[in-house]
Amino acid sequence: MSADIVIKTNKLSCLSGSQFLLNSISWQVEKGDQWVVFGRNGCGKTTLLSIIAGYKSYTSGELEVFGQKYDANNILAIRKKIGWVSASFFDKYYKQESVLDIVLSALSGTLGVPFEISNAQIVKAKQLLTDLGLKEKIHSPFDLLSKGERQHVLIARAFMTDPEILILDEPGTGLDVLARERLLVTIKELALAHDTTIIFVTHYPEEILPFFTKALLLRNGAVYKIGPTAELFTSEVMSDFFSYPVAINYANERYNFSIRSDALQLSEAQSKRKDGDSNE
Ligand SMILES: Nc1ncnc2c1ncn2[C@@H]1O[C@H](COP(=O)(O)OP(=O)(O)OP(=O)(O)O)[C@@H](O)[C@H]1O
Ligand SMILES: [Mg+2]
Repeated sequence: MSADIVIKTNKLSCLSGSQFLLNSISWQVEKGDQWVVFGRNGCGKTTLLSIIAGYKSYTSGELEVFGQKYDANNILAIRKKIGWVSASFFDKYYKQESVLDIVLSALSGTLGVPFEISNAQIVKAKQLLTDLGLKEKIHSPFDLLSKGERQHVLIARAFMTDPEILILDEPGTGLDVLARERLLVTIKELALAHDTTIIFVTHYPEEILPFFTKALLLRNGAVYKIGPTAELFTSEVMSDFFSYPVAINYANERYNFSIRSDALQLSEAQSKRKDGDSNE
């Protein structure tokens, strides 16, 4: 394996019952790459990234992270080198836990608080939370926070260990417009100044900043296309990807999709009617 490849999947699949959540994903991420992962709801993005971050198991194929396959001896050490922000993952686990404990849990690579924490680590966690506007909520239980506040807690947790890989699963969802722009700036600084490897999931094309130069498009649990973002985020490729006409504009370094909603409603209604007909 090349020293520069930090994530490598080979025919990675995840089966639940008889349903493939992921079907034969082969993908390589090099150190310092910045990727966008894009696909419709339910296509398998969170499943794939939970597996890569070491929080979910797969059923067949291969996965190497930092050149290693996960095992009982290395899993916590590898997890600590990955910052993993995913509301859809962590919202299932964190309820009554305090904001501070959740941020500190990054230090152990588990979902719980580590046994030994230094004062410096507590100071760092509090500073991150303060920087993200959560100074007053440090001791609050996670489930009493607003959606955007919970998202910020997960971002602080991810930054706690100065990770080599940052996996951001829809980090802008739930943030107000200013907080979202601030987050994008922070991600950009990390990407450009520290050469952090970043994998970024979004449904919103305007969040795909120019430094996300590579893209993985997932459809129905499988790779649809892998390639340079500029070559995949075109009207032609996206219209085929969505099986629906999509016009893409690129201006001021931001993508913008325009989709004809009147035709979309008709088309979705028609396809539902067709499904209904075929079930009769
Ligand atoms: N533990 C599980 N058991 C069974 N099915 C699951 C499990 N986890 C996820 N799924 C299913 O796998 C599919 C992919 O889910 P996943 O959360 O990876 O999608 P996603 O691409 O992240 O979607 P979204 O854009 O809505 O976040 C969905 O149909 C989901 O219901
Ligand atoms: Mg998801």
